Amino acid sequence: MKIVNVDVAIVGAGGAGLRAAIALAQTDPTLKIALISKVYPMRSHTCAAEGGAAGVIKADDSFALHFDDTVGGGDWLSDQDCVAYFVKEAPKELTQLEHWGCPWNREPNGSVAVRPFGGMKKQRTWFAADKSGFHILHTLFQTTLQFPSISRFDEYFAIDLLVDEGRCQGLTAIEMCSGMMTQFHAKSVIMAGGGAGRIFPFSTNGAIKTGDAMAMAYRAGVPLKDMEFVQYHPTGLPNTGSLLTEACRGEGGVMLNKNGRRYLQDYGMGPETPLGKPELKTMELGPRDRVSQAYWHELQKGNTVSTPWGECVMLDMRHLGEKVINERLPLVRELAIAYLGVDIVKDPVPIRPVVHYMMGGISTNMQAETVLPGLFAAGECACVSLNGANRLGSNSLVELLVFGKSAALSAFAYLQELPAPNAKALTALAEQSQGRIRALFSRTDGAESVAGLRKEMMDSMEKNVGIYRNEEGLKEAAQVIENLRTRYQKVILTDKSNVFNTDLFQVLELGSMLECASAITVGALARKESRGAHQRLDFVARDDENFLCHSMVHFNGDQNPTVDYLDVVITQSPPGVRDYSGAHS
Ligand code: FUM
Repeated sequence: MKIVNVDVAIVGAGGAGLRAAIALAQTDPTLKIALISKVYPMRSHTCAAEGGAAGVIKADDSFALHFDDTVGGGDWLSDQDCVAYFVKEAPKELTQLEHWGCPWNREPNGSVAVRPFGGMKKQRTWFAADKSGFHILHTLFQTTLQFPSISRFDEYFAIDLLVDEGRCQGLTAIEMCSGMMTQFHAKSVIMAGGGAGRIFPFSTNGAIKTGDAMAMAYRAGVPLKDMEFVQYHPTGLPNTGSLLTEACRGEGGVMLNKNGRRYLQDYGMGPETPLGKPELKTMELGPRDRVSQAYWHELQKGNTVSTPWGECVMLDMRHLGEKVINERLPLVRELAIAYLGVDIVKDPVPIRPVVHYMMGGISTNMQAETVLPGLFAAGECACVSLNGANRLGSNSLVELLVFGKSAALSAFAYLQELPAPNAKALTALAEQSQGRIRALFSRTDGAESVAGLRKEMMDSMEKNVGIYRNEEGLKEAAQVIENLRTRYQKVILTDKSNVFNTDLFQVLELGSMLECASAITVGALARKESRGAHQRLDFVARDDENFLCHSMVHFNGDQNPTVDYLDVVITQSPPGVRDYSGAHS
């Protein structure tokens, strides 16, 4: 087995991983850094982010307002010390990106332009047309190229963490082009492997988002936090699930039911605002959880539009005009034409809510440290407790910058004075990891297929763990997922070759997704209240007395996971009423 010795190994080369790598290389040019990713970095899912990144920049805005929007938007489940740190760091990170070459849109006077976004009381979303993630990822990637201390391991599939003497000291990964198992021995490991939206059948997420990093940390004994909070984005294309950015509404797009009514006014987000003049924090600029929930109610009332792709509502942007659309929403126009044959300049486009983001993830503190010494996490795979029960659009691109950097600084501080890893002990652990893969290759007694199990998982998650949930459905899902975890032990590989064995990688991804699905379901079943993106039809109210706390799901091998709770950090904003009625303005 090949051994690679480094100081820090980073799993994932999207926004968080790249930002962490840069911070490490800048902090100490002598460090050896491995950047490990199952895809080429520019194919990381950060690339797909569209609308922009939030940070206070205009004179009428303040850190206090960004803090309030984030905490209220998260239904008071965010750790407030973490939010306070985040809002102060956000503009610094976005300015840093500007200096590295990110082409932010400008105002006519040359200053950075910002646009309105959902749940935000002020305009603070920096953007690069509707390709913000693409430009951020390019900027970070090209910046990493100037640091010789960053070694890239593109198309390496991470398998297991190596934990010796109670410390995380590296990981195993398969070089995908050869099938060769590689051990990375590292003093610190940073997980930055993204979310797990692909557990659900209808998602904005790229096929790579299968929760691998979450599952690796979870199996190594790190709890997953707040996994029951799964975000639906209100405006996905109904056939592919592709994102139509919230910027469509930020720019003034409106949502209509089958009667042509701007129905959000019927769900505490009214009164109706004038066409073409979006008002902040209300109507179409309400928060994602509330806007997606309103769709569900419209569906129950029979107010949705039947289309060849299922039930939808309509997103109307015609009044914005072709010039604004081409300048600000070119990708949205392209996507709607390419996938639905709808030109948004001429017609409203059908849309429906789609799984977009995991608020939960690997439990960390605000320094990105996990409970496992030597292991750090940042980006969507982590839960630093910034987003609470519902993330506001455009906070996540900044989250991965702010906490990618934090993870790097924590990882650097940790590795000082550490002895070199015990190569012999780590090799023995890596051999066990390799044994797991070998066992898969030699299994002949199984009859389960990846596609079959994956479909059952997705169907059950969609049916029972969606926008609204109840005890009966959640119990059914928990049973299905536990059953699938057992049957997963019988999956057989049909392809036994070594070169780009996609069959193998899909088996491994399914294993990760099942662990994450199990944590989501168990967390959702145990949380007997409604808060943010977790809505229970049988417990309709928020219950601060019993559930103002983070769920922590613990891995128990073949047994069912267990849940316990951690207090939310409240420093200045006691739980209050979320007001999106327009009364605040
Ligand atoms: O709608 C969007 O552009 C998505 C942004 C986000 O998830 O932050």
